[in-house]
Amino acid sequence: MKVAVVGATGLVGSEILTVLEERNFPVEELLPVASARSVGKEITFKGKKYKVVSVEEAIAAQPDIAIFSAGGATSLELAPKFAAVGTTVVDNSSAWRMNPNHKLVVPEINAHVLEDSDKIIANPNCSTIQMVVALAPLHKRYTIKRIVVSTYQSVTGTGKAAVDQLMNERGGKEGAKVYPHPIDMNILPHIDVFLDNGYTKEEMKMVNETKKIFGDDSIRVTATTVRVPAMGGHSESVNVEFAQEFDLDEVRRLLEAAPGVVVQDDVKNNVYPMPINAHHKDEVFVGRLRRDETQPKTLNMWIVADNLRKGAATNAVQIAEYLVERSLVH
Ligand SMILES: NC(=O)c1ccc[n+]([C@@H]2O[C@H](COP(=O)([O-])OP(=O)(O)OC[C@H]3O[C@@H](n4cnc5c(N)ncnc54)[C@H](OP(=O)(O)O)[C@@H]3O)[C@@H](O)[C@H]2O)c1
Repeated sequence: MKVAVVGATGLVGSEILTVLEERNFPVEELLPVASARSVGKEITFKGKKYKVVSVEEAIAAQPDIAIFSAGGATSLELAPKFAAVGTTVVDNSSAWRMNPNHKLVVPEINAHVLEDSDKIIANPNCSTIQMVVALAPLHKRYTIKRIVVSTYQSVTGTGKAAVDQLMNERGGKEGAKVYPHPIDMNILPHIDVFLDNGYTKEEMKMVNETKKIFGDDSIRVTATTVRVPAMGGHSESVNVEFAQEFDLDEVRRLLEAAPGVVVQDDVKNNVYPMPINAHHKDEVFVGRLRRDETQPKTLNMWIVADNLRKGAATNAVQIAEYLVERSLVH
């Protein structure tokens, strides 16, 4: 495959390169792409140095697949240009996710919706991905009615400038700010922009994307998304109400058998998922499984995953792998 990575110098883009290498994706030719200011810079892939190329050069090379992580505006402008030369685009931004003409895919759940006519495929929001991966086996068995989720999201979710802000604050250094308040020793109940309904765009992504991925508009989701000064991944407190009664031991068994899920739930030994342990891992970690004692058929759980891995790079590469395995890219 001739593969373009658009946003190759960013946090997600670098992780995409690592994941392509680790999973031995069949890259015959690599085209690392970034903004004009990075053209000519060197990146390393499989021990070999590559120069970052311009968008125009990458489009002219007509790659088979382009994995995008370069922001929504870039994707809206450039993904159709790649698609027009026959490239299949897997996009990490929010640009195409809720567009009814484009598929929103988490391979463990709905890769089967993909067809070879899909030229721009959307990767869901990082917080949504880890939540639906953990909830999918439970939804299948007990049918989800309602989800109440609060997130504790890593600064890595905002990109490299946010990691710099945290580190500058911690080191007492001046520097550019991407958040409206300090992030070190603080938490911000504010991710993405505020909307007219009082929710943030990130919160509404979790609501709308969950319904689209499960193909079920009747699931009610309410979210509060929060930025915390953590590095290794996003954490989520999830309260989920099912249509059917559940058995806690069976819940555990279903999660243990679910693809991409690891149960870490041994509170007597202080074992539960934490971002520090999820860092650089592809799996979604689940723990603190317990009944909500205030109402029937309701479960509390704690879900952690590396937002740069399963929340972005790994999910996108898994989509690309599925396309290659099923000969959906040519
Ligand atoms: N961070 C996460 O956890 C996460 C998770 C899921 C999805 N995403 C999405 O992934 C995207 C990138 O996030 P990030 O965290 O990796 O951000 P980042 O670290 O700021 O990286 C942004 C990348 O986009 C490139 N870029 C910017 N404008 C461009 C243009 N006009 N043409 C080509 N490349 C351009 C940048 O190149 P330069 O280095 O030259 O500036 C850089 O490689 C965003 O859409 C974000 O919403 C992020």
